[in-house]
This record gives sequence, structure tokens and C-alpha cells, in this order.
Amino acid sequence: MLIDEISNVASRRYTVAIEDKTIVGYLGVMYVMDELHVNTIGTLPGHEGRGIATSLMTEAWGVAKERGVQRATLEVAVSNARAQELYFRFGFSPVGVRKNYYERTNEDALILWADLA
Ligand SMILES: CC(C)(COP(=O)(O)OP(=O)(O)OC[C@H]1O[C@@H](n2cnc3c(N)ncnc32)[C@H](O)[C@@H]1OP(=O)(O)O)[C@@H](O)C(=O)NCCC(=O)NCCS
Repeated sequence: MLIDEISNVASRRYTVAIEDKTIVGYLGVMYVMDELHVNTIGTLPGHEGRGIATSLMTEAWGVAKERGVQRATLEVAVSNARAQELYFRFGFSPVGVRKNYYERTNEDALILWADLA
């Protein structure tokens, strides 16, 4: 599944942040029409709070705008305050809830959207 994702360069984009030959952050997005879907983002434990996720998102936003993307969306666990703060800084706001979105925990997800235009 991962190889399929990474190979699908027409609609997927995966980027990593590297420090001293170590991957310390990653971001995976999907383009759907004029929308950007943030599928996955993570910073290596011990490296948080240094702007790694912010720089990955900033770079992705620049590329998305060049592609004519108008809106962005993602789901985030209702308890994941850290990630929510990051997304709110990028202009995301909640528009709804997906009940029991996460299979392992049954936790609800907030649906966030941002206007890039
Ligand atoms: C959510 C997550 C991706 C954030 O990554 P991060 O690299 O720590 O994020 P950033 O450093 O860019 O931003 C976090 C904070 O660092 C601050 N920061 C940014 N640049 C900074 C710098 N150069 N120096 C110090 N702090 C900085 C930001 O202001 C931000 O502050 P906030 O906590 O008030 O929002 C990370 O915590 C993570 O991997 N969590 C687990 C996976 C996860 O939850 N993914 C999201 C699923 S929806």
C-alpha cells in the first residue's frame, strides 16, 4: 500500500525532513480535484516543537497553491490538541465530526477544512 501511495505521483505527494541523515518528519498529501487532503504527518519523537511539521506544511502549501488548490481538509482525533494547534495556525477550522473514526480506539475525529485561496 505504501509503495502504491509513493508511486502515485499524479495525486500523491510525500515529503520528509532530514537532519544528520535521519528522517525526523514526514508529510503525505493527496490531491483530489482542487482540494488537498492531508493524509499523514508526523515528527520523530524527541524532535517536536522545533518547527519540523510547520516547515513541511509550509512547503506543501506553496506547492499546492502553485497547482491551483483552493481548499484543504483532514481528520484529526478530538483528543489530539497538539496537532489541532498546528492545523489551526494553518487556517483550518472544524466543520464536523466523524464518529468512531479510529478503528483501534473508536475515538471520534474532527473534520477540518481550510481555504487556501
Ligand atoms: C502534531 C505533530 C506532527 C507536530 O509536529 P512538530 O514538528 O512538533 O510541530 P511544530 O514544531 O512545527 O509546531 C509545534 C510547535 O512548535 C513551535 N515551533 C515552531 N517552530 C519552532 C522553532 N523553530 N523552535 C521552537 N518551537 C517552534 C510552534 O509554534 C508550535 O507551537 P504550538 O505547540 O503552540 O502549536 C507532532 O506532535 C506529531 O508527530 N504527533 C504525533 C503524530 C500526529 O499526531 N500526527 C497528526 C495526526 S492528525
